[in-house]
Amino acid sequence: MTITLSRVDPVADAAELIALLSTNRFPFHSSVQPTREEVARRVARGDFSGPANEAYWIQDASIGEGHRVGLIVFEEITDGTPLIDLRIAEAHRGRGLGRAALRLATATVFRAHPELNRIEGNTRIDNAAMRRVFTAAGYVKEAHYREGWPVAGKPPLDAVAYAILRSDWTEGTITPVPWAT
Ligand SMILES: CC(C)(COP(=O)(O)OP(=O)(O)OC[C@H]1O[C@@H](n2cnc3c(N)ncnc32)[C@H](O)[C@@H]1OP(=O)(O)O)[C@@H](O)C(=O)NCCC(=O)NCCS
Repeated sequence: MTITLSRVDPVADAAELIALLSTNRFPFHSSVQPTREEVARRVARGDFSGPANEAYWIQDASIGEGHRVGLIVFEEITDGTPLIDLRIAEAHRGRGLGRAALRLATATVFRAHPELNRIEGNTRIDNAAMRRVFTAAGYVKEAHYREGWPVAGKPPLDAVAYAILRSDWTEGTITPVPWAT
């Protein structure tokens, strides 16, 4: 597998963004399968546009040159600490793409933005694959929000938050959270 990233052009790529997000299921997101109209509204609102948000296509060259298999968005990047939204198309999940993509995207964003000191991501407690992906890419669990994730028609679930420090990314270290202090 050879992963590459390319910046999303929210105008030229609008149809492909709508297709990816409306034809796949995202069981751990609040909107599990958004409609085409909902995604179009997100595109128009600037959810995939700079300078606040930076979106990248995830491409797997082993399938075909420039073949798009997912999307990673760094949201609110201008606020100082971007928040990750990583989505692999259903047909391509579970074969290492998420892990490889988060590693590559983290490096890409730290290199492109020397002002960033950390990158964050959160997910639902039972999103085992995403939690494995965070850990594999050097992210550390920093928070556990009990009943912090609303689920429509059901009791809320816990949420967990992870982050990576630029210093850990640079040095290949894992700085633990000083829980005892
Ligand atoms: C979460 C997601 C990005 C992970 O990417 P992926 O390419 O499917 O995951 P990978 O193949 O890289 O696997 C990473 C790890 O998760 C494990 N894993 C994969 N699918 C799993 C599943 N359904 N249940 C439990 N573990 C799973 C793998 O075994 C691997 O574990 P390892 O590190 O011990 O080897 C992807 O499944 C996805 O897009 N899901 C829907 C969107 C989503 O929930 N995004 C998270 C929001 S930030």
